[in-house]
Amino acid sequence: MLFERVKSLDHILELAQRKGLKRQLGAFDLTMLGIGAIIGTGIFVLTSVAAEKAGPGMMYSFVISGFVCALTALVYSEIAAMVPVAGSAYTYSYAVFGELIAWMVGWALILEYAIAAAAVAVGWSGYINGFLHEIGYGLPLFLTAGPFDTVLLAGDTTPGATTATTSAGGFNILAFLVSLLVTLLLIIGTGKSAKFTALLVIVKIIALAAFIVLALPAVNSVNFEPMLPNGWGTPFSGVGVLGAAASIFFAYVGFDAVSTAAEETKNPNRNVPIGLIGSLTVCTLIYLVVAYAAVGAVGSQPGGELSLSKEPLAFVLREVGYPTVGNWVASAAIIALPSVVLMMIYGQTRVLFTMSRDGLMPAVFSHIHPRFHTPHVVTLVTGAAVALFAALFPVGTLADISNSGTLFAFFMVALGVMVLRRREPGRHRPFRTPMIWLVGPTAMAGCALLFVSLGWGTIRLFLAWATIGLILYFGYARRRSHLANPQAIN
Ligand code: ALA
Repeated sequence: MLFERVKSLDHILELAQRKGLKRQLGAFDLTMLGIGAIIGTGIFVLTSVAAEKAGPGMMYSFVISGFVCALTALVYSEIAAMVPVAGSAYTYSYAVFGELIAWMVGWALILEYAIAAAAVAVGWSGYINGFLHEIGYGLPLFLTAGPFDTVLLAGDTTPGATTATTSAGGFNILAFLVSLLVTLLLIIGTGKSAKFTALLVIVKIIALAAFIVLALPAVNSVNFEPMLPNGWGTPFSGVGVLGAAASIFFAYVGFDAVSTAAEETKNPNRNVPIGLIGSLTVCTLIYLVVAYAAVGAVGSQPGGELSLSKEPLAFVLREVGYPTVGNWVASAAIIALPSVVLMMIYGQTRVLFTMSRDGLMPAVFSHIHPRFHTPHVVTLVTGAAVALFAALFPVGTLADISNSGTLFAFFMVALGVMVLRRREPGRHRPFRTPMIWLVGPTAMAGCALLFVSLGWGTIRLFLAWATIGLILYFGYARRRSHLANPQAIN
């Protein structure tokens, strides 16, 4: 029997209460946490990837993936308020679909969080390397990107630098180091101070606001022609408006990190939906204007300068005559993006922590450090893996792989919320998704559409990852599960 191991919601809630983390976050903290996790490499860096795939049509891409995320946030809110425990989509799936699917979702969340952390670290390195180059301390090309990346031979993204080549990098040292540094902060437990997060959110919002104010007046209608150089895109092609939407989806990911903190939230039934929906709304509005301003100010044809830049927002400002503000925006990205790496690694550790608490991951993953009160072992293992991936792979590839895991998890959450409505209609729901029978299926269809738009290469990697997951489940986790050994539950 494959699907018989289901955990009851009441049991999950009770276990979390007994072995739980301290509840200390409020609605404002959660919204800031959400914005802190959302605004990052997606808008600051992947804008160029989107331009390469869709040209000016990338504006539609932002709308499409924002819409899919908005629907998902609505269903997420329902379940996160109902089951406010760490572990997010993994925990919900355990209650709704049973252990096997929960394991697969948890396994996919490793792509979502750990690979996303690596992607953000690489995105950050694009800005810091650009900055170091600007002030005359640029690193050798070999150390600025991974071996699978392509780098600008001139290392140059200043106006007029168009000579892109495909010279390969070697080891992205700064992306590697920032991942390790963040890991250290998480272990000693100082990184995730709510005040510090709020400060960095303000830095990011000011930077994007400055971008909008300066780039909008430079918008020129010529730059929108041709609007769809690569068309709308077809499934598995990974290009066109849909291909770009599948990539830029990364820019919105992070709102669900709010739900991974549910177990540390005061009055989660009210505060988690506010944090999820509030943070996503703010970011979506900002993104749409930023995308419009970037495209309109300098154009975004595939193969053009914007599509080649590793620091596209700074590039746009330099192009429209504000090099100093461009440098400030770059500095804001340099200061603030590490906090996104932190959020992603944090989300990852909480999922693995919960899986370990259920017996599906090694028990040592749920050990808490006696002095720092953090799950130090799992944080270290996660951080080391993130650092390695960040050192070797390019940002676009990492973001797409991360998206594949996220889209799978979102799909299952939407399905799970609908199943629960049917199965336990009487359960108390502090937040009810409006029009669930419309919102749920549309969210699922949107996730499926973005998933197939990722491109065949990414989908193949996802399938390979899922296969490894299945082998591990049947070879290891299934036997170790606390549901198989009830005496192990303590
Ligand atoms: N949404 C986050 C970012 O764009 C992951 O960096």
